Amino acid sequence: MDVLGIDIGGSGIKGAPVSLASGEFLAERHRIETPQPATPDAVAQVVNNLVQHFAWQGAVGCTFPAVIKRGVSYTAANVDESWIGFNGEQLLSEVCQRPVLLLNDADAAGLAEVRYGAGKDQQGMVIMITLGTGIGSAIFVNGVLVPNTEFGHLKIRGKDAEDRASDRARKEKEWSFRKWSARLSEYLQEMEALFWPDLFIIGGGVSKKHEKFLPLLTCRTPVVPAQLQNDAGIVGAALAAGALLRV
Ligand code: BGC
Repeated sequence: MDVLGIDIGGSGIKGAPVSLASGEFLAERHRIETPQPATPDAVAQVVNNLVQHFAWQGAVGCTFPAVIKRGVSYTAANVDESWIGFNGEQLLSEVCQRPVLLLNDADAAGLAEVRYGAGKDQQGMVIMITLGTGIGSAIFVNGVLVPNTEFGHLKIRGKDAEDRASDRARKEKEWSFRKWSARLSEYLQEMEALFWPDLFIIGGGVSKKHEKFLPLLTCRTPVVPAQLQNDAGIVGAALAAGALLRV
């Protein structure tokens, strides 16, 4: 079974056909710049361009950086506000003329890591944290996802965690990895005091540089880097669509 996975991000919209048997790409991934402003109509056109690029005939899974319930986005922390209350899944299905499933980006990345990557065969509670423009979270208990958790917005010292510990905060404030890792440790410690997870998986682009900051973290839970890195969103979107749309 193959599904086209698409990862909708703030700067790029990336896709590739994915084999659900292996989690591998069946063709080289293709990236198109995210239109600005990233309104639903503009994003739907780009998603349809990706469908056409791969001459895709089957189902599509799409990530989106917001809470998504039954196709509707309920938040817009780092995306155009016109998505709030909007059924993006319906629009994408109409524009692409095929079944499309929309899900939260961190949930998708977590699904991919738990199936094929750093969380494979892990029992107990696994928490995936993605560090990018925002902080995304995905919580798994014995491999089962609790969807739409928004722990990037946990308050730490009165501030949104993603304003203190995201990769955007590190870059904007020009913090060294040492300085940033202290804030990240504080965030992970707060998460472990609330959840007592068995494993943290750290994803997002910065996880490629994990050797610069994972050894500096001071939480008690084991922390491992994501294995699928940039591809996790695409793979997870395809996985979720394959399961939910029963293609
Ligand atoms: C959003 C989440 C998203 C995360 C990562 C946060 O600002 O609220 O829904 O998963 O960023 O993109």
